[in-house]
Amino acid sequence: MDLQKINEFAIKLIYDAGEQIRESFSKELIIETKTDANDLVTNIDCQIEQFFVKKIKELDPSHKIMGEEGLGDKIVTLDGPIWIIDPIDGTMNFIKQHRNFMITVGFFVDGVGKLGYLYDVMRNELIYAIRGEGAYIDHHPIRKLEPLTIEEAIIGINSSWVIQNGKINHEKIANLIRTVRGTRSYGSAAMEIALVVTGKLDAYLSMRLAPWDIGGGMVIAQEVGAVVTNLKGEPFNLLSNDTFLIANPSIHQKLLDEFIELK
Ligand code: IPD
Ligand code: CA
Ligand code: CA
Repeated sequence: MDLQKINEFAIKLIYDAGEQIRESFSKELIIETKTDANDLVTNIDCQIEQFFVKKIKELDPSHKIMGEEGLGDKIVTLDGPIWIIDPIDGTMNFIKQHRNFMITVGFFVDGVGKLGYLYDVMRNELIYAIRGEGAYIDHHPIRKLEPLTIEEAIIGINSSWVIQNGKINHEKIANLIRTVRGTRSYGSAAMEIALVVTGKLDAYLSMRLAPWDIGGGMVIAQEVGAVVTNLKGEPFNLLSNDTFLIANPSIHQKLLDEFIELK
């Protein structure tokens, strides 16, 4: 399999898709809800996923596609070549802010991440990685992450986990927030992962993400030395939703040991 060729193909698709999204702002947006009133999807999410599916199947019909909007294949095993795609990550931001959303794509073979992409559509900033060959931002190499202390860290976290809840010990999260230098929340998992792999955030955690939110980011994380697990410290399960932690390697274990306690 010629990964360089597939990489060139993927980069072209992502730039094309970004152009389609930017052009869509002058057209009518149809907004619908999915699992609840705040789980939004638009005709553009579906148009972009359909675009990826069509182009990938033209390239090689044996490649399988796991996309958030379900327009690809039904994936029950990670065997063979699989594209994991979120056509718009941060749909609420896309609708409300016209910014702070990403296209993210991962290419896996037999469960091993080979290519990863995080594309900030409005900044026109592309981060990508080829397994074993490093990660790039707008084609410039990204350096490995530098070590730091928890006290120096800026972490991405949703404010709801500081409130008493059934999933995580909120007092430990409050202590984490007191300990770190700062916290941020962007509303796009792919964007928070992009910030961690480029050292602009030092960790990001979530109580529930899907494979398409993180597939591309996982490949990039490995190339810069960021550690990705679920909140139990186990590998993220790419066949279902899971909790999620990406962090600078110097603080990953400390976060799990001292500040994260699932209920
Ligand atoms: C969502 C965003 C959000 C995260 C949610 C995701 P979507 O993706 O990444 O930041 O907190 O869990 O579902 O629905 O906008 O693609
Ligand atoms: Ca998403
Ligand atoms: Ca999405």
